[in-house]
Amino acid sequence: MQTTIQQTQFAEDVNTGLSASHKYLNSKYFYDTHGSIIFQKIMHMPEYYLTDCELEIFEKQASGIYEAFRVDHQPFDVVELGAGDGLKTTILLMHIFKKNPKIRYMPIDISNKAVEMITEKLTHEIPGLEVLGKTGDYFEMMEELSRIDKTPKVLLFLGSNIGNFNDGKARSFLGELHAAMNPADKLFIGFDLKKDPRVILDAYNDPHGYTASFNLNLLRRINEELGANFEIMKFRHHEVYDPQTGTAKSYLISLEKQDVRINSLDRVFHFEKWEPVFMEMSQKYDFAMIEKFASGSGFTIEKNFTDSKNYFLNSLWKLK
Ligand code: AVJ
Repeated sequence: MQTTIQQTQFAEDVNTGLSASHKYLNSKYFYDTHGSIIFQKIMHMPEYYLTDCELEIFEKQASGIYEAFRVDHQPFDVVELGAGDGLKTTILLMHIFKKNPKIRYMPIDISNKAVEMITEKLTHEIPGLEVLGKTGDYFEMMEELSRIDKTPKVLLFLGSNIGNFNDGKARSFLGELHAAMNPADKLFIGFDLKKDPRVILDAYNDPHGYTASFNLNLLRRINEELGANFEIMKFRHHEVYDPQTGTAKSYLISLEKQDVRINSLDRVFHFEKWEPVFMEMSQKYDFAMIEKFASGSGFTIEKNFTDSKNYFLNSLWKLK
């Protein structure tokens, strides 16, 4: 098997997580080829309201969003952190491009394939749009983009992707973004709001079993890439949501006492019956939390956009 630096990092992170007294794995590793396909299915199921709500905001409030993005009627570039599949971005950019065909779209992702795919999609769907994709670390690539010229940037961080970070990580991430931004730049960030706990549980504990497959796929990936022998059937997905903190958490529960060998780590990991492995958090927010995040990391909220159900919020921030 060919080992790359990313694979060494993957092995190291799996080792750290499964060695902890409360075992965990990092959800950023969900998105291999197979995992990305499952995530598409999640986004298309009716229970996963996040995508539909954010799309509704972009469709119904495109003009307001465009007006808010502009600074002194100057042209701007749209930079997207984490390229995604481009569905929502296409809708948003179509509206913006109609109003101003001079805007440029700059997707940044750590996956070269994701950047290639979204570049092709956007170039195809919005003929004439200039797309300039960058593969690599968000902050390094932002710096590279700001060296091209001084055009103000609107950074997109959509889909409540920030919800995968715990409080401390979210704060440091926003702080780093702040440091990488220029005074005229803005940040457009998606937050999933606190709501009926049943709605949230239905989205993450879906009847189709897609979220379960999404989590279990990481065990399959470890088998494939790190030479492990996880028996997928011996684990079960379990979702919890705490309405007080607003945190949804995904676990995989070991259904029996078992040992799993990971060849590339040359180690065996023991799982007790009913032992949980913490897989992912998806934080839900209220206005006070969002306000605190913004001001705590040096931003002020310029404008908030919500969907008709008040399930989701896109917040436009500028530097304080
Ligand atoms: C892509 C991180 C926003 O947490 O809602 C969907 C990922 N996990 N279903 C989320 C996810 C389970 C998603 N984010």
